[in-house]
Amino acid sequence: MESLSPFCPVDVRLLDRTRGETALRELLGGTPEKMLVLAPRFLCTELSLAPLFSALQGDGHCLHLVTDIQSNPSVEHLATLLAQLREQGFDPTCILAIGGGSCIDMAKGISALWHLTPDETSGPDTVREAIQAQKYLRKDHTFLSILAMPTTAGTGSEVTHWATIWDTQQGRKLSIDCAACYPKAAILIPEWTVGMPASLTLSTGLDALSHAMEAFWAKARNPFSQALAITAVDRVRRFLPQVLAAPLDANLRREMCLASLLAGLAFSQTRTTACHSLSYPLTLLHGMPHGYAAAITLAPVMKRNRAVLPDIAELEALFCRDGGFDLWLEHVSNDIQSLRLSAFSVPEEALPAVAQSAFTTGRMDNNPIVFTPEESLQILRECI
Ligand SMILES: [Fe+2]
Repeated sequence: MESLSPFCPVDVRLLDRTRGETALRELLGGTPEKMLVLAPRFLCTELSLAPLFSALQGDGHCLHLVTDIQSNPSVEHLATLLAQLREQGFDPTCILAIGGGSCIDMAKGISALWHLTPDETSGPDTVREAIQAQKYLRKDHTFLSILAMPTTAGTGSEVTHWATIWDTQQGRKLSIDCAACYPKAAILIPEWTVGMPASLTLSTGLDALSHAMEAFWAKARNPFSQALAITAVDRVRRFLPQVLAAPLDANLRREMCLASLLAGLAFSQTRTTACHSLSYPLTLLHGMPHGYAAAITLAPVMKRNRAVLPDIAELEALFCRDGGFDLWLEHVSNDIQSLRLSAFSVPEEALPAVAQSAFTTGRMDNNPIVFTPEESLQILRECI
C-alpha cells in the first residue's frame, strides 16, 4: 500500500505475513533498538511469534517481552507495567505492540508516560496526575516511538493519536491525546486476524462500523472524511456477515482489515460522537465490550441525527438491500450476541446513572445534536 502521508502520518502497510515481518525489520533499520514488545500471551502462541522475535534479536535488537496485557487498559495496570520496567532496569528506545486496541493503547500510554514516571515508586497517582494534567504536552517532553501490528480489525488505534486509559478507582475514562501518540508505522497482516472468535470478530467489526458512521455525521466532518466513512460503512456492511460465515477466509479477513483501516482514518480526522460517548459508562459500569457498547445506540442516534443532517439518508440507503440498518444489525449479530442492553445484564433501573455519565467532552458535543441526560436516557431505553 502506498503511504497515506500527509493525511495520515503513520506509515501504513497492509501485507501478507512474510512481507509484513520483512517490512517490520526494514522499518527498524540497522540501528539496534531496545524494544519493549507488548504481545498478549495467547497471541504469542496462536500466531507463533517466537521466530519473529528471534529474527529481531538476530538483527541486533534487544527485546523485552511483556505478555500480561489486559483488555481496557487502566491507570493501575499502566502504573504497574511502568514500575516493573524500572525495577527490571529495562530502558526502552521503542515499543512494538502486537495485539488489539487495548494493547496498542497501552503502548501509547507507556510511550507518553515513560519519561514522566522516572522511578519504580511512580504509582497510579503519578500516572493519573500526569494524564489529567497532560504533562506529556510539555515542549521538552519526548515519546517512545511505536510500531503497531494490530491483530483485530476494528479499533483503528493504529492510525489515531489518542488512547483510552480507564480510571477504575475513580470510575471514569481518561484520554491521552497528542500528535506524538501516532504510531511511527502500522503493519496490518490479515492472516493474524483469522483466529479471532466470532464474538471478537463481531464486536471489533461493529466498533469499526461505529467509527465510520460517527465520522460521517460528526460535527468535525469534511468531504474527505465522509468519503472514507461511507466507503468503510459499505465495506463492513458487505464483508462482516461474510467473514462471520467464513472465518478462515483470509481474503475476507483482508477486506475487514481494510474496512477497519478506512474507518480508522475517517474518525482519526473527526473523532467519534454520541454513540461512543454513551458507550463509556456502559463499559465502565457494566463491563460491555467496547464495540457492542458503541454499536448498540447507532440506530436510535442515527434516527435523531437524520432530522438535522439529511446527508444521513446516504448511509441508510446503503442498507436498503438488506431491509434497512436495523434488520442488517439484527441479522449480523443475533446468532452471536443479541444487541439489547438486557442481554448484557444492564437493568432498566441502571440507565439513569449511565445517562448521567454519558457526556464526554469532544465526543457528545461532536454529535450534530448534543443530547441532554434526559435524551440520552430515552435513547438507552430504546435499547433495553
Ligand atoms: Fe471505538
